[in-house]
Amino acid sequence: MTTLSNKPATTASDASSTAAASPVETPSAQHADKRIYLDGKLVPPGEAMVSVFDHGLLYGDGVFEGIRVYNNRIFKLGTHLRRLYESAQAIRLDIPLSIEELATATRQTVQANKLTDGYIRLCVTRGVGALGLHPFTCAKPSVFIIADKITLYPEELYKNGMTVITSSVMRNHPGALSPRIKSMNYLNNILAKIEAIDAGLLEAVMLNPQGYVAECTGDNIFIVRPDPTGKPVLMTPPLHAGALEGITMNTVIALAQKAGIPVTRPDLTKHDLYTADEMFLTGTAAEIIPVTKVDGRAIGNGQPGLMTKRLLEAFQGLVKNNAPED
Ligand SMILES: Cc1ncc(COP(=O)(O)O)c(C=O)c1O
Repeated sequence: MTTLSNKPATTASDASSTAAASPVETPSAQHADKRIYLDGKLVPPGEAMVSVFDHGLLYGDGVFEGIRVYNNRIFKLGTHLRRLYESAQAIRLDIPLSIEELATATRQTVQANKLTDGYIRLCVTRGVGALGLHPFTCAKPSVFIIADKITLYPEELYKNGMTVITSSVMRNHPGALSPRIKSMNYLNNILAKIEAIDAGLLEAVMLNPQGYVAECTGDNIFIVRPDPTGKPVLMTPPLHAGALEGITMNTVIALAQKAGIPVTRPDLTKHDLYTADEMFLTGTAAEIIPVTKVDGRAIGNGQPGLMTKRLLEAFQGLVKNNAPED
């Protein structure tokens, strides 16, 4: 089996966490019948090349989206595209297509790959430019779209819950690089992910420079805690804590509100996590995954919680048939 690391994860705290660190992400097979959208054309993977002078590669200068396809429907395509254009606006990148043209290109890519269920990676790079940082030497942004299968975590973790650590790598300060921008520069998150992998795990909670919980390396975080009357409340950090405005997160909040579950967004500390009754993570690729242990502390009874299961069922119901595309 291939491993994420070239050395064994010897620091794993228990056997299940070692299993958890086994990667399930596999590089996309270079199937000749696959098609990648690249700057207006659908090309085989072997021809889907960007230049070594592209600033997306040289500097991580670009933006992207990860989008799910459920039963032939592109889940929240409109919302993903709006976030992409907002990220581009924030980094002063002019996407060379209208939002409608990009939606059409995305649909064409999904159809060309006959993808009924899977994952879309839509990237816009700054484009080819001179070797210096100067972004405006780049003549034209490059747009590429990959439509493929994805399995982020082993199925076993969805059933029994995952173990995470809090990372010593703090989430980007918004004054340095806003975590609201879904940019192609993920080094901050990658450094935290390496810490998780070194601990034999697959995810890490990232704190912001003030010490409050921001999010995980590729997912938003939720906990369930009782209010003063003992009623369970769903909580997720506010955006100002350094969280990406997750589309799965917003979907889960809406589903909870519809079910009459109170939702609050206070600043959360590690103590709030350690003493939570339930915890789960959300993300397009991860969907909803329960967390049952943080930094060696069992969450609740150490099993995925009831509210987590309830929201997971509601989410699966939403995306199963006729998933909203707006
Ligand atoms: C850092 C980070 N936070 C949160 C998320 C979850 O966002 P979404 O639900 O829109 O996929 C992602 C997913 O890409 C992410 O990379």
